[in-house]
Amino acid sequence: MRKTIIFLIFFSAYLVASDNMAIKVFQGYCWGCHHQTAQAFGPSFRSIANKRTKGEIIAQIRDPKDTYKMLGYKINSMPAFNDLNNTQLNAIVTYILSFKDKK
Ligand code: HEC
Repeated sequence: MRKTIIFLIFFSAYLVASDNMAIKVFQGYCWGCHHQTAQAFGPSFRSIANKRTKGEIIAQIRDPKDTYKMLGYKINSMPAFNDLNNTQLNAIVTYILSFKDKK
């Protein structure tokens, strides 16, 4: 019982920490062009979550010049974000996918 409680405390702390990471990446790198549920300069995270896989999202963040056509765009205006580490990348992708509509 005590072990379970300790585990739950650490697990919640971990969830809060990874969520903060996503918010930091979002505000630091994406927010100027993407909003969570509203179309901005780029598409909303909700619309992305509803039509893309994790792999497609990662490809677009790492190398949009190589990916935008495959995703159906005629021009590429999004810069590449190669300085994000894997933890930051996973956090932001999980955050984007959390806006997927529940069916
Ligand atoms: C300078 C503006 C700008 C910034 C900053 C930006 N994006 Fe984009 N993003 C765009 C535009 C415009 C598109 C449309 C496709 C293109 O231009 O390549 C796009 C497309 C995307 C797509 C694919 C959309 C689809 O149809 O599936 C994803 C995923 C994405 N952005 C994620 C991000 C993430 C995550 C960040 C932050 C790390 C970010 N973008 C930062 C402008 C931006």
